[in-house]
Amino acid sequence: MPDRVGQLDHNHIWHPFTQQKGWVEEEPVVIDSGEGTDLIDVDGRRYIDGVSSLWCNVHGHRHPVIDRAVRDQLDQVAHTTMLGLTHGPAAELASRLVEIAPPGLNRVFYSDSGSSATEIALKMAFQYWRQHGDGGERRTEFVTLSEAYHGDTLGAVSVGGIELFHSAYEPLLFRSHKVAAGDAGELERVLERHRERVAAIVVEPLVQGAAGMRVQPPGFLRDVRALADRHGILLVCDEVATGFGRTGTMFACEQERVAPDLLCLGKGLTGGYLPLAATLATERVYDGFLGAPEDRRTFFHGHTFTGNPLACAAALANLEVFDAEHTLLRLQPKIRLLGELLGKVAAMDEVAEVRGRGLMIGIDLGEHDPALRLGHRVTLEARSRGAIIRPLGDVIVLMPPLSISKVDLTRLVSITGESIKAAHESVYGATPAEIGSGKGAGQPVVAEAA
Ligand SMILES: Cc1ncc(COP(=O)(O)O)c(C=O)c1O
Repeated sequence: MPDRVGQLDHNHIWHPFTQQKGWVEEEPVVIDSGEGTDLIDVDGRRYIDGVSSLWCNVHGHRHPVIDRAVRDQLDQVAHTTMLGLTHGPAAELASRLVEIAPPGLNRVFYSDSGSSATEIALKMAFQYWRQHGDGGERRTEFVTLSEAYHGDTLGAVSVGGIELFHSAYEPLLFRSHKVAAGDAGELERVLERHRERVAAIVVEPLVQGAAGMRVQPPGFLRDVRALADRHGILLVCDEVATGFGRTGTMFACEQERVAPDLLCLGKGLTGGYLPLAATLATERVYDGFLGAPEDRRTFFHGHTFTGNPLACAAALANLEVFDAEHTLLRLQPKIRLLGELLGKVAAMDEVAEVRGRGLMIGIDLGEHDPALRLGHRVTLEARSRGAIIRPLGDVIVLMPPLSISKVDLTRLVSITGESIKAAHESVYGATPAEIGSGKGAGQPVVAEAA
């Protein structure tokens, strides 16, 4: 019987990306507090936050520097609008973001979720061309990668390509041209065919997260930039998931020395503390919107909580901690350790493939009947062993805070390995070797999902 919180939850909350029918049959973990890279439930059980509270926590929970920054800002003002006013934290943060972003991204437009950041980039690219002259108004289409994920608002879904999440909304979407990630040749052909109608190419650089941590071959992003330049098309990089150290550098684009025309940030921007997102634009894009009010070149977009001061204060403190704690430098040995630890996981019979960059990992369990919910079972096993992880179907995601200790990183991978074994055995009643199946596969002995 769930306790009061669990009961109220089951009675009234509708959870994101969750089949409620199954949710109300399970007892929820009720989180009471966080400390460093641990989450602590109301019964005092501790769990490693193995997915950084959905890919956003950077320096751990209750970091004293970020906590203090938010408290100090509370003593000033919690919220004031960016429509017609400005404030210190938003201005200081914009200047810091411009400093650390790839070159040329000089303007910061705030919003409050990754979906909004990409939606804004799409609208900016579209409107930029409408106001451009020289036939620019014909540039109304987008080129995107297959299996892309850019968020859940309708524009973001239109440039997305995950069948399970997106196909239901098909009649509501605008069309975009899909290109296989990693295939620069196909991109070139699509651009040749549609060149005068394309406003922008939209990509998640280096790793497509929600697609199951699909890694692009080296050089692909550079090829995309070169093709965008050749056709005079804008490049939008969505670093909502990859930004803020996740792939080993502050931004994934840096690894290919690519600077996009529009850069989308979210998640780790505040260290995972508060909802804040940003779309950074070049001066070229920004200039395209300048004019007298009656020219109607204004970017008519904004949200109530755009540039919220508490969130901006958290984001400034987040960047301060990156410097003070040498987060990126100290991350490198952890990435190497993780690589070694994952070698053993990749060798497991239950695992088809391990992919990723930096602290952004997908452990692919191979082809299984979705009704078995093998990935979900792995997360339940992990929970009983002291780690919170979340799957993407049958791909187990590991994405701990960058601040995780080597000891906890080792423990997280070991819990994950054990949990994969246990879940596999609970479904198939035997190891893949005993069944004589290929890596990651087998015949289920349980027909029903948990
Ligand atoms: C690459 C990418 N873009 C956009 C989003 C959407 O961000 P949000 O959930 O904050 O709307 C996500 C979320 O996972 C993402 O991974």
